[in-house]
Amino acid sequence: MAAKPVAKRLVVLVSGSGTNLQALLDAIAKTGAEAYGAEIVAVGADREGIEGLARAERAGLPTFVCRVKDHESRDEWDAALTEAVSAYEPDLVVSAGFMKIVGKEFLARFGGRFVNTHPALLPSFPGAHGVRDALAYGAKVTGCTVHFVDDGVDTGPIIAQGVVEVRDEDDESALHERIKEVERRLLVEVVGRIARNGYRIEGRKVVIL
Ligand code: GRF
Repeated sequence: MAAKPVAKRLVVLVSGSGTNLQALLDAIAKTGAEAYGAEIVAVGADREGIEGLARAERAGLPTFVCRVKDHESRDEWDAALTEAVSAYEPDLVVSAGFMKIVGKEFLARFGGRFVNTHPALLPSFPGAHGVRDALAYGAKVTGCTVHFVDDGVDTGPIIAQGVVEVRDEDDESALHERIKEVERRLLVEVVGRIARNGYRIEGRKVVIL
């Protein structure tokens, strides 16, 4: 008899509207956690009162908030975040619009299994304004990148990318909405594949098994 597939444990981190989180929740609800390969065991945020947390609560998931301003230093915040996430014993941590750079302790614990989604085609336009910067540069195509997080800003090994054409009439919000449609599908696909199949990180290359 074949072994029953085991769902990997995911902690998802959010800072905003949480539509990427919702896409993961919907995908898991549709097929079941075992078939998808992963279940969300908790959702964390760096701020209160956001729709991302409300989505988690509606889904009946435990949530936690870890705010920089509640800690003496950035390192203490990083240690608290590491502890809060560790409590849920995740196999993978997903930054789905989490607008904070994590520190050394978090990366020591979760490096190589911390996935981020960024709304540009890295290595172009890293940082907090990837959509605005691509538009201002006059890029004709942009998109999104799902990657592992390292100690730089949006510099870690790339897992997958999706392309979106820039239209003449685009403003930041219209372009970001079209990127997010592609981004949500890509994140769901990538997280499911790495959870089900496993992966290796060889230097800058990510090999999904
Ligand atoms: C995404 O485009 C993500 O890449 C960016 O912020 C957006 C988050 O959207 N960093 P949501 O909160 O998942 O709706």
